[in-house]
Amino acid sequence: MKIAFFDSKPYDEEVFSGFSTDNLSMKFFETKLNEDTVSLAKGFDCICAFVNDTVNSNVIDALCDYGIKLIALRCAGYNNVDINYAKNKISVVRVPAYSPYAVAEHTMALLLTAVRNTHKAYVRTKSFNFSLNGLVGFDLYGKTVGIIGTGKIGRVFSDICKGFGMKILAYDKYPNGDLDIKYTSLENLFKESDIISLHCPLNDESYHLINKDNISLMKNGVILVNTSRGALVDSDALLEGIRSKKIGGACLDVYEEESELFFEDNSNLIINDDTLALLMTMPNVIVTSHQAFFTKEALSNIANTTIENINEFYTTGKCKNEVTL
Ligand code: NAI
Repeated sequence: MKIAFFDSKPYDEEVFSGFSTDNLSMKFFETKLNEDTVSLAKGFDCICAFVNDTVNSNVIDALCDYGIKLIALRCAGYNNVDINYAKNKISVVRVPAYSPYAVAEHTMALLLTAVRNTHKAYVRTKSFNFSLNGLVGFDLYGKTVGIIGTGKIGRVFSDICKGFGMKILAYDKYPNGDLDIKYTSLENLFKESDIISLHCPLNDESYHLINKDNISLMKNGVILVNTSRGALVDSDALLEGIRSKKIGGACLDVYEEESELFFEDNSNLIINDDTLALLMTMPNVIVTSHQAFFTKEALSNIANTTIENINEFYTTGKCKNEVTL
């Protein structure tokens, strides 16, 4: 069995290499998978892709031509794969859960940074500037957090927020009556929340869920946290919300045009994305580079489940983690 990894980084190679055997060989390509690079997959049995690889109809056709039967995603989200087109042509498996705690804890880390200005304090104290001017924050205790999407990550985040004494409001397309969470309409969530955190998948319905109209419903000074997928937020509308001070802070682990930028060192390049460049200049916008998942525990779980998925598929022809419509 030969597996081609795309968009691979040293940490992927380190964790996955431990699984290689005489029967299981792995090749790690740094390049992202797309129409220009798919020919690298020739001669492999399976490809392993990540969040910013492009698995569109042309890529799927090419993979099928090379006799590849399986796309093993080493992530939970699959919005970058044309699942409709893949149906009956090639199987797609994913890692549905690897550490909801990693993502939920990072969400709270971003939120705490935003409301207590620790990002500014860190920079100040490094140059012995111990002034507190401009660093006043606010208590999370007693504030209302609106959680959109109460699946694995949203639930853990809700528990963390409860630990802080926050009030929880939630919206989910499929509310879970077993949870001790108060559900409300999306509109009411936008109106009532001091903080809004996104934990739903990106699909046609949720694309630009945070847009100009919805931002206008929100409380003045609302803090928006997105550790889910970039295109849930209309970035231009977000920028306008920040400029007008409607939005009091934005914590972004994901960005809708992240695929060419995130996970790479672009520090010597001219960034052509004006919206991102302007967002980055705002003192109340905190960006991390899609790192919410990035813990030792999550990486180890991702590797275990990906290899289990591949073994299960090639042994039984099926896989419990197959993405179906
Ligand atoms: P999950 O599948 O357990 O939960 C998603 C929830 O969203 C479900 O309860 C579902 O009913 C709900 N939902 C679906 N469509 C919706 C809509 N249109 N509006 C409101 N709710 C909707 O997924 P999980 O594991 O909690 O992950 C959530 C998202 O987090 C993933 O889709 C992925 O995009 C993102 N993620 C980000 C990571 C990062 O490193 N930043 C890492 C892992 C996941």
